[in-house]
Amino acid sequence: MTTKRVHNFSAGPAILPLEVLKQAQAELLDFSNTGSSVMEISHRGKPYLAVHDQAIERLRRLTGVDDSWHVLFLQGGASTQFAMVPMNFLPQDGKATYLNTGEWSKKAIKEARHFGHVEVPFTSESSNFNRVPKPGEYQVDPSSAYLHFTSNNTIFGTEFPEEPESNGVPLVCDASSDFLSRPLDMERYGLIYAGAQKNLGPSGLAIVMIKEEFLKTQVKRDIPTILNYSTHVETMFNTPPTFTVYIVNLVLGWLEQQGGLTGIQTFNEEKAAKLYAEIDRDDFYRGTAEIESRSLMNVTFRLADEGFEDRFVKEAEAAGLDALKGHRNVGGIRASIYNACPMESVDALISFMQHFRRNS
Ligand SMILES: Cc1ncc(COP(=O)(O)O)c(C=O)c1O
Repeated sequence: MTTKRVHNFSAGPAILPLEVLKQAQAELLDFSNTGSSVMEISHRGKPYLAVHDQAIERLRRLTGVDDSWHVLFLQGGASTQFAMVPMNFLPQDGKATYLNTGEWSKKAIKEARHFGHVEVPFTSESSNFNRVPKPGEYQVDPSSAYLHFTSNNTIFGTEFPEEPESNGVPLVCDASSDFLSRPLDMERYGLIYAGAQKNLGPSGLAIVMIKEEFLKTQVKRDIPTILNYSTHVETMFNTPPTFTVYIVNLVLGWLEQQGGLTGIQTFNEEKAAKLYAEIDRDDFYRGTAEIESRSLMNVTFRLADEGFEDRFVKEAEAAGLDALKGHRNVGGIRASIYNACPMESVDALISFMQHFRRNS
């Protein structure tokens, strides 16, 4: 029996490596000679803990950090991190700095304001978030507890080309839609978090990496136990989403086979360059993000004649190209080409774009 798989451009939950899905399928009924699936065994038993620990080790290895970095697998998605970060690190009489580059940044800012003073020295809201800041475009007060930024803006198709300036203040990053798509300058970070469902696995998990030195700056505040990072650093406090962690661990193994973060970066750059070249070829398509801010993960564009966009999405779907409709805040087309998106899918999209242009 052959299984029909589409060219999947979903923004998230998103495509996973086929090798990973096949391994999960092969191990589904009997994981590691347990006679059970990984979903059916204790999270405190050896077979599951081996998976959990391997995923932590792989995350440290891929990002090039040692065990002074804590790796946590938390529930509540990246959205819970919007609240946990300021709850744990923004003093009531202190301040934190946030860069506002899209809807997700706005949500993070809203939560932070519950806990202390928030400074927002940059926003691109007036141009519908079509760019991230350029160096020198904003100032960070050195007394800020941290500088929060959204490294990739899933909805608007923009991405920081590199870590933003922070005047020596530790970076805190929502890396939900580009985590592990390229190397990171981990020295600059205090904390980095990402929902798993784009580059790393199924939904239901936020990966949080915290540097011990940053953890020491945690504020004294009376907060619920489960929302305190130290709780999770000290112990496996409650049942982690075991099946999701298992898939993430397989994806991390796959990522190592692709040459780690530098290997996957080269591949991601090739895919994005091809697609943007097609968009820029003439006026039929038009990228929505400023060129220097373009995302390697979410490629957003419009058709010169916006009236053709619905037809574009429908005909693409009929040709096996799935989930190309842009987010409702931007409209148009969005092709999400995360780590696991193969070159064949990008090539198929480009052929379709050429065909559509010829026939319109
Ligand atoms: C950049 C970014 N941050 C946060 C979120 C929210 O993640 P979750 O749904 O896991 O809370 C998303 C979801 O798409 C996202 O793209």
